Amino acid sequence: MKPCLFLAIETSCDETSVAIFDEQLKVHANVVASQNRWHERFGGVVPEVAARAHMELLTPAIAQALAQAGLTISQINAVAVHNGPGLAGALLVGLSAAKMIALGLGVPLIGVNHVHSHLYACRMSAGRDIFPCVGLVVSGGHTILFDCQSPLMMKRLGGTIDDAAGEAFDKVANLLGLGFPGGPALEAAAIGGDPGAYAFPRSFFHEERLDFSFSGLKTAVLYSFAPPGVDRGSVVVSPDQRADIAASFQEAVIDVLARKCLQALKLTGHRRLAVGGGVTANEALRQRLQGDCQRAGVELFIPEHGLCTDNAAMAALAVEWWKEERFSGLDLDIRSTVF
Ligand code: KG4
Ligand code: ZN
Repeated sequence: MKPCLFLAIETSCDETSVAIFDEQLKVHANVVASQNRWHERFGGVVPEVAARAHMELLTPAIAQALAQAGLTISQINAVAVHNGPGLAGALLVGLSAAKMIALGLGVPLIGVNHVHSHLYACRMSAGRDIFPCVGLVVSGGHTILFDCQSPLMMKRLGGTIDDAAGEAFDKVANLLGLGFPGGPALEAAAIGGDPGAYAFPRSFFHEERLDFSFSGLKTAVLYSFAPPGVDRGSVVVSPDQRADIAASFQEAVIDVLARKCLQALKLTGHRRLAVGGGVTANEALRQRLQGDCQRAGVELFIPEHGLCTDNAAMAALAVEWWKEERFSGLDLDIRSTVF
């Protein structure tokens, strides 16, 4: 295999990220510029604000990644970009920059599916092949189960019919007044809480279908402290009650995620499970999956923390396309929905 240095761009949502890696999957730089300060006053990601923030943050992030890797742009041999799924305006910023660099340098451009990259992050952290496996992506935008035959062949088995798991974390954190971003805040609030205090719903738990639904859970959380007809702004939730609600909510999400993984493993016959996406930063989820997989004799792959939430290094999935010499044309477009 001839040596190749890749520059990768991620702008699908609210992290502006640029990475440099090589064909051996060695990461030379992985710069992640958070946009939290742009979005926190709105309590969530505003698509138009995200696109504008990417425009401001991307060029400095490219310069920083090159500096960290000790390289100049002319040493880059290929450009990878997450061209979807994600926010249309945000994706366009990254894709336009990637095309410009590839065209300017005269090097291949490789469009990569962001959701598949979340699973490839497991391959990168493992340092060895993890395929075939069941893959679960749990992020702010997606909750999808895959039958992963290979890095380039991931077949969807099921997914959420409404909110994504991370989105539920964010919305429930918001209901509990925990601020933005909600996932880590909710995990912290759950510490010391009783996960059995509230019997929140676990959708499709006793069904074989490999789908998820979290919007009813979110409503159940709201009604646990502000029943219908009661203005939630007028309700005072004590710190103990908040910890119990947070812990019970987290437990309900983890219960269904773990259950559906085990069902997917049974259905496919795979003995390996790869779980990626921002929610895998959650320690309680990691521990549950570790225990369940150990008992079931299944090998578990979860990315190291830096590769769980959105980042450009996981776009090293492009290396697999590159090995097959399957490149994108300059007519590559964004794809805002799952593909
Ligand atoms: O993968 P990611 O960075 O972006 C998307 O592709 O959507 O995931 C972000 C999501 C957010 O919803 C965030 O609240 C959630 O991951 N998240 C967590 C934790 N850290 C991030 N959820 C639960 N516990 C965490 N520790
Ligand atoms: Zn993501």
